[in-house]
Amino acid sequence: MCGIAGFIGKKAILNTMTGIKSLEYRGYDSSGIAYIDNSKVKIIKEKGKVENLEKDIDYNIDSNISIAHTRWATHGIPNKTNAHPHNVGKITLVHNGIIENYEEIKDKLNYKPKSETDSEILAALINDLYIKLKDMKKVLSKLKKIVKGTYAVLIINEDYKDTLFATRNDSPLIVGKKNNEIMFASDIPAILHFTNHYYLLDNYDIVIATKNKIEFLDNNLKAIVKKGFIYDEKADSITKAGYEHFMLKEINEEPEVFKKIISKPTSGSIMIGENDISKYNEIEIVACGSAYHAGLIGKYYIENIAGIKVTVTYASEYRYSKHFFNTNNLVIVISQSGETADTLAALKIAKESGVDTLAIVNVYKSSIARLAKYVVYTESGIEIAVATTKAYLAQCLVLLLLALNKSQDENMIKELFKIPNILTKYINKDYKQVAKIVAKYDHIFYLGRELDYYLAMEGSLKLKEISYIHSEAYPAGELKHGTISLMDKNTLVIAVVTLDNIKDKTISNLKEIASRNAKIVTITVDADFKSDYKIQIEENILSPFATIIPMQLLAYEVAKIKGCDIDKPRNLAKSVTVE
Ligand code: G6P
Repeated sequence: MCGIAGFIGKKAILNTMTGIKSLEYRGYDSSGIAYIDNSKVKIIKEKGKVENLEKDIDYNIDSNISIAHTRWATHGIPNKTNAHPHNVGKITLVHNGIIENYEEIKDKLNYKPKSETDSEILAALINDLYIKLKDMKKVLSKLKKIVKGTYAVLIINEDYKDTLFATRNDSPLIVGKKNNEIMFASDIPAILHFTNHYYLLDNYDIVIATKNKIEFLDNNLKAIVKKGFIYDEKADSITKAGYEHFMLKEINEEPEVFKKIISKPTSGSIMIGENDISKYNEIEIVACGSAYHAGLIGKYYIENIAGIKVTVTYASEYRYSKHFFNTNNLVIVISQSGETADTLAALKIAKESGVDTLAIVNVYKSSIARLAKYVVYTESGIEIAVATTKAYLAQCLVLLLLALNKSQDENMIKELFKIPNILTKYINKDYKQVAKIVAKYDHIFYLGRELDYYLAMEGSLKLKEISYIHSEAYPAGELKHGTISLMDKNTLVIAVVTLDNIKDKTISNLKEIASRNAKIVTITVDADFKSDYKIQIEENILSPFATIIPMQLLAYEVAKIKGCDIDKPRNLAKSVTVE
């Protein structure tokens, strides 16, 4: 949530803006930049996307220091005043995170803010501490004790016009370095135009960067030596590569992602540490959004193949519920970004209890990946579209491979290798015609039973998040206990029917719906049932994986018909670093 970037070196404004544009997946309701021009701090802000801010920027200005921000509003509506950077006294900063005790800090400082944001209060606090302590290192080390909440912050202090100060707690921040130029950012895509060499900051690290010199300090102000990392994916992975949208590009990458995961030496079996999951009596899966839906797919496969009981919980609920940890339990957290605040908090709870923890994560060395006892990376590459596609598929696959561990289910493993071609086949199909039907409705129910219901949950989320059509996923068998009262000619039902053992049951429910005049679209392996529109899926033991593509492409086509902003749907952000 919110993206920040900062640069020290030549063409600082251009580099910072290039960085911030690739962080828009973290929020895009307003943006702003601060830079030093002729020894003065200049701030420009705009409402809306970064392209609005760009119109105000003069790239000819020869600035060597700049910080910028793209916002996902938490405190205060998206407007120019609430946009970052915030300036108080000598301090100008950009902030990603939430300061939970900002009201308390504000009262203590007796500060009258201009904006409604917690971030301005953080600037006021840093300014106040700086007036008292006159030493930025000491100021930043004090934040740990005073500030409750999360922050990644980049600071310009008017007294040090050649320096950028930074620190973080639970919100991500990386530092890229090339020759004597330095770039800070919330995430790797923002620095790839500049360098693929970067350092990761740990919580409460303090960074003092000037041209030529970068100092890393821990919270006790002891110098630390940071290990550098090299990101080995080409910078072009953050371009659309000729596709109209990132979402479409990422859907098209799914067969390759699938192939990459199953082609690893451990294909058909993923080890966690030295072990496989069979040593655990019970597994808890915790995640948010699509990762939660992937967790449900994992539940189905782990219970059915590995015979281990699995519960799946939303991380935001898990944080505040009662836990019954047992030493034979495994807690699996799933997260594309590896930074989701609720999932990170859930992982902390599990870790503190002493149970084994496994993170299934896409972003290398993200906070969740670093905290869990074991990590399996989903290796899907950078995902830019806010609505996840390839990372979700990869999460489902990794969970299937965990379930398959040591089961030696030769048939299933053989079928796995056929899936990439099947995915390609469904990518190449045209969903425009069915999308036209779907786009006409205001209310949609996505139905299925068991695994099909779990798939339907993701299909429904995909549709509503990018097309803004109200869509609800529902267990087909539960409909008759109330919800069937909503079935009439104005309702569309999309049904996922892939499981051979229960498909007839779902089809009976669809017949009940048809007799109440609701229209039905099926995504199904069944050849006989006649629905108003059918997306035929070929029968395969892993055909549930094949349904993922039509569901994603259907949502995509509907959103396109409705003229929605597909890669950046309203109100959303890809990396949700607030509670
Ligand atoms: C946001 C994204 C979703 C994602 C969820 C969890 O809501 O828009 O696509 O599934 O966060 O994110 P994570 O990074 O933890 O998988």
